[in-house]
Amino acid sequence: MQPEKKRVPHLSGPGKRLLLFLCFFGFAPLLYAQVITSPDKNLTLTFELTDNGTPSYQLTYKKKPVIKASKLGVETKDVPSFLEGFTISDSKQNSVNDTWDPVWGEQKTIRNNYNELLVTLTQKEQKDRLIRIRFRLFNDGLGFRYEFPKQQELKYFVVQDEHTEFNLAGDHKIFWIPGDYDTNEYAYTTSKISEIPQLVEKATIDVHAQTPIKTLAVQTPSMMKSSDGLYINIHEAALENYPAMQLNVDPKTYKMSAHLVPDAVGNKAYLQTDAHTPWRTIVVSDKATDILASKLILNLNEPTAYEDVSWIKPMKYIGVWWEYFVAGKSTWAYGTETNVKLDQDFTKLTPSGRHGATNENVKKHIDFAAANGFDGVLVEGWNVGWEDWFGNWKEEVFDFVTPYPDFNVKQLNQYAASKGVKLIMHHETSGAATNYERHLDRAFQFMVDNGYNAVKTGYVGKIIPRGEHHDGQWMVNHYIHVAETAAKYKIMINSHEAVRPTGLHRTYPNWFAQESARGTEFEAMGGLAPEHTTILPFTRLMGGPMDYTPGIFQTDLSYYGTGNQRVNTTLVKQLAYYVTMYSPLQMAADLPENYNRFPDAFQFIKDVAVDWDDTWVLEAEPGDYVTIARKAKGKNEWYVGGVTDENARTATISFDYLPKGEQYLATIYADGKDASWNKKPQSYEIRKVIVTSKSVLKQRLAPGGGVAVSIREGSKSDLKGLKKL
Ligand code: NOJ
Ligand code: CA
Repeated sequence: MQPEKKRVPHLSGPGKRLLLFLCFFGFAPLLYAQVITSPDKNLTLTFELTDNGTPSYQLTYKKKPVIKASKLGVETKDVPSFLEGFTISDSKQNSVNDTWDPVWGEQKTIRNNYNELLVTLTQKEQKDRLIRIRFRLFNDGLGFRYEFPKQQELKYFVVQDEHTEFNLAGDHKIFWIPGDYDTNEYAYTTSKISEIPQLVEKATIDVHAQTPIKTLAVQTPSMMKSSDGLYINIHEAALENYPAMQLNVDPKTYKMSAHLVPDAVGNKAYLQTDAHTPWRTIVVSDKATDILASKLILNLNEPTAYEDVSWIKPMKYIGVWWEYFVAGKSTWAYGTETNVKLDQDFTKLTPSGRHGATNENVKKHIDFAAANGFDGVLVEGWNVGWEDWFGNWKEEVFDFVTPYPDFNVKQLNQYAASKGVKLIMHHETSGAATNYERHLDRAFQFMVDNGYNAVKTGYVGKIIPRGEHHDGQWMVNHYIHVAETAAKYKIMINSHEAVRPTGLHRTYPNWFAQESARGTEFEAMGGLAPEHTTILPFTRLMGGPMDYTPGIFQTDLSYYGTGNQRVNTTLVKQLAYYVTMYSPLQMAADLPENYNRFPDAFQFIKDVAVDWDDTWVLEAEPGDYVTIARKAKGKNEWYVGGVTDENARTATISFDYLPKGEQYLATIYADGKDASWNKKPQSYEIRKVIVTSKSVLKQRLAPGGGVAVSIREGSKSDLKGLKKL
């Protein structure tokens, strides 16, 4: 690819004379702005230095400004900062167009196609100290990062702040949660950027172990829409050895800038050359569906270094879990005492009689899983320590290897294995990452010895080491350490309350799901807005799969005899989540007895795949609706899910991804005519029809409702008597 060059617009007087002088000596090109375009030419990135040698970039999409001139730079603590006084000492361009196959995912094969610009910036006054900025421009957006090569003048340094700016072109509509160093479990607010100041207090609702940012800030992935129809998503990719980036907001100029999560003493990152930051990502399109289809963040992550990945398998599971949230049916804790210590004899506790993880209850779940084709059963509350786990900033809460007296690890795992099911381990750390690290190898060996291959980890509470945050550099490195250590034991990880994902599941495919957002559990703790799951795919899910834990059929929780809580969806919308909320790990979160009451609707959850050959985002608008179709991996089966917010709508579902000329059997799970999230949520209709690649389904979704469709090859007798759609 030929580098394009543009004249630096602001050169005059002495600048011009200097340019002529440099031209004479052959240095001229490096004073010009550097310009690259995306492979399809829709995006243009311009990089240049300002008059005082500050790096600056801008981005346009189909000639519309996405990011206006925005400064770049890193402020350091103990050495001179990387902010100004730079000259461009080198500039290289490169193009890549190849494909790769993820271990699991939404597509069997992913295209990686970008044009790259790598600029080397030298600070003459700092003895020619240099940094590099690498830009990768894809058809779906931009990624860039700072690189700090090994050099005489730079070895160790502390990052005090990152000055990366995202100077937005207008007062966009934004889907946001408030800035916080410890939690992402907030409800979304939709507003203009300029309205954030008056809404932020209300948006910063009470969430456990929160540390809201004191200045005006929002979290990433941050989803925006301009008044002229551009969809813009800002996030980061490959967050390793660095704190998470949140975004400072200037509500007057619409300028956002990096806000790094500090450590216990207020520093942001400790780096040693050769080092680099994570990628800053800007996904952009004039179609909302392109945002959901983007693979930019995955493409910016490193391929996995694991040699053997055959043991990493997507899975569907049930659990001894929801019963802890509804109607106080049972509890994690075994004893009635509090103030317990790990070294005491837990068999001497007074049983409350409400312990959930009992041999009997777990066996019942194993039987249900086996009868319905589930791969796993999560059991929480199996290990000692739950009497006293919460809110005390206590370090030695769990040892991850000692079961309660009424939970027989060996027998239950053998029983599960005899039925082709695996138990899923639970490691709640209660935020004590230090304690977890000390126990990690023993805990994983215990899992291997007993036949477990997957663990749900949790970080409820304030972090130990005290003063660290869930999203700071220390914890970012902790989560990766846990994933890498788990890989040595062939264990898969589903982390809750960890830093939100940034595509690292490409590099560490055993870290296969995360929570890191407000999930189903909040339906039992005040409820989620019906629009919540029309926003999550555009925000939290941009970084990676979510263990959202869908599948609640008994949505009116007053059914359990206490309170008037409800899950704010129809039953059918819960089915749609298995397609719209992508994850290789999907839970059927409701109680087995509730599934037994609706066997025909439950059939969809039993059938739906968790790994895919291909994905088509059919319709989407953040905050309003999402409709997605996917083809099951290695099978001629397709599944469609569509969700709407509190408004009823008619989804248009095409089937043009089906092989041409064939007839297929489609089972349509639709909201009943009288259904809505708050009235008759359990009203649904199931019908079977014949579809071909030419069929189009117009399907009404109830307020807070959804639609789910399964499509498979049907034998002649299956199709007999069915109508064509
Ligand atoms: C919070 C997790 O999100 C939830 O799923 C889990 O049950 C509790 N912590 C206890 O670990
Ligand atoms: Ca949680």
